[in-house]
Amino acid sequence: MGEMNDLLNNAQSLSRIIIERMLTSGARVIDATVGNGQDTLYLAERVGSRGFVWGFDIQEAAIECAHKLIPAHLKERVQLIRDSHENMGARIREEVALVLFNLGYLPRGDRAVTTTAASTLKACSEALALLAPEGIVLCVVYRGHVEGRLEWRELVSFGSGLDQNAYNFFTLDFPNQANDPPGLIAFQKR
Ligand SMILES: C[S@@+](CC[C@H](N)C(=O)[O-])C[C@H]1O[C@@H](n2cnc3c(N)ncnc32)[C@H](O)[C@@H]1O
Repeated sequence: MGEMNDLLNNAQSLSRIIIERMLTSGARVIDATVGNGQDTLYLAERVGSRGFVWGFDIQEAAIECAHKLIPAHLKERVQLIRDSHENMGARIREEVALVLFNLGYLPRGDRAVTTTAASTLKACSEALALLAPEGIVLCVVYRGHVEGRLEWRELVSFGSGLDQNAYNFFTLDFPNQANDPPGLIAFQKR
């Protein structure tokens, strides 16, 4: 009971609703923040055997953890790259249907290794440049820490300046919730 109540009250599950609606089998996608690999695994399952997932993380520990999590039968459709997502444009030379950012620091990891507003903004521009028409960039932004609040502000400001004929842009916020819950930021190339 109450399962439906929890579908629309958080950025993570709303991002998945969007992914499930928008992503087709065979899609080529990017997980910009691999972390423990949960999102990478989820995306690898969703894109099917003809799809592909590139995953970026700057931490070796994250890449190793994700390697362990991805089962053998999915490994051939996943490439994990230890590099900053700011460099995705140099690493990937084809259009993608989705770029997913789950910002902040690795759960149970080193909190000092967090995404930053400057690198996130650069990475978002790179991501937009890689999008196929109708492709989307989703950012789950954790606003309970200083850098996360800055990321939210800067991404909202960046998105607000985009030409509406070129990109759909929206934010999902939860203004009646306590304790600065994560928000969702989305861009779609038109
Ligand atoms: C909240 S965690 C991601 C959680 C992950 N999606 C999962 O399913 O477990 C954020 C990750 O971003 C990584 N990160 C921080 N700065 C980065 C950068 N410039 N490029 C790529 N990854 C970065 C961190 O190392 C951390 O693992």
